[in-house]
Amino acid sequence: MHAGAGGDILAVMSTRRDFLTSAAVTTASLAAIGGAVRSVSAGQPAAAQPATGGGDTHRGVCVIASGNGLAAVNRAMELLNQGYDPADCIVQGVKIVEDDPNDQSVGYGGLPNEEGIVELDASVMHGPTHKSGAVASIRNIKNPAQVALLVLRRTNHCLLVGDGALRFAKQMGFPEENLLTEASRLAWLKWKANVGRDDFWLNDDERDEPVGRVWTADGPGKLSMVDHTDVQHLTGTIHCSAVTAKGDVSSCTTTSGLSWKIPGRVGDSPIIGAGNYCDNEVGAAGCTGRGESAIVNLSAYTMVMLMEQGKTPQEAAIIAAKRMVDRAKEKRLKGPDGKPRFGCSFYAVRKDGAYGAASINGGSFAVHDGKEGRVLPTVSLY
Ligand code: GLY
Repeated sequence: MHAGAGGDILAVMSTRRDFLTSAAVTTASLAAIGGAVRSVSAGQPAAAQPATGGGDTHRGVCVIASGNGLAAVNRAMELLNQGYDPADCIVQGVKIVEDDPNDQSVGYGGLPNEEGIVELDASVMHGPTHKSGAVASIRNIKNPAQVALLVLRRTNHCLLVGDGALRFAKQMGFPEENLLTEASRLAWLKWKANVGRDDFWLNDDERDEPVGRVWTADGPGKLSMVDHTDVQHLTGTIHCSAVTAKGDVSSCTTTSGLSWKIPGRVGDSPIIGAGNYCDNEVGAAGCTGRGESAIVNLSAYTMVMLMEQGKTPQEAAIIAAKRMVDRAKEKRLKGPDGKPRFGCSFYAVRKDGAYGAASINGGSFAVHDGKEGRVLPTVSLY
């Protein structure tokens, strides 16, 4: 699993139905927290603001993304400097990650659903027109963010799903492609074999080892499931938001969603207000991680609303993270110690260029402040 540069690849549930997180709370992120996070209660601003890359004091042109988005912010800034619309800049930026077979959280090479089929979600929101476009559960199209931008630009709708989204993409000239890479197919096969003992797929320790060489060792049916690595459900995504020198904003989130999901499952990424939102009068925000939590908390909208009410982007991201934890009422979402057994990261940029990011369980974000692109630790609640 390639987690990008600290991208929000979070193991949210193992095959034994235990929730795990794979994101480590780094020394740097703990240092960044200071006393601020512990002082936050739901709906309240942080008492002190940790400085993650000087985000709250930055002004001017800015692109922010999840930690796997360094190449995306660099590309988006390059295009902003060439005068492209901010929506085009971020969509071209995330395209680099969508095209990357080694990033198994997004686009080509994304981890598939429980039937071994890659289904993608994406949305784009354009501040100047306050219009959005999105696709959900789209199959066989490598760049769903580009399709979402065309839904925004070429239709009177906000969201196309499944077969309708695929037909629209083909009408727009996108080629159909097999998005399942060999690495993702083998990861899916390993999950499938380890998912349960009552099914008809043999677990590693249920198989009799062959007595000699196996003809299919390197072809279909390859016996690759010999290690006992814990197989987990993973969710990863790229979010990217931009503000131009004039203060126009746009935002985009694109993902292959939760690995091994029930076919048709839609996460927060294509849901405006959940995984992605912007308002040209205020700023832009998005999240990556457990989509179901971002949906029921309308996390991206919450961050923009908090900024509208005067919170800094850093405060807005921390408060959105805390609200998500406070509202995780289902017992299975918390461990015996009361800590969340899931992860989510939050990114916000204000129309004047101030920015901030926070995570529940540690993480990173990418930012280009007009001078350079960097990956920085997010403020972390735990
Ligand atoms: N945040 C990505 C997903 O849950 O689908």
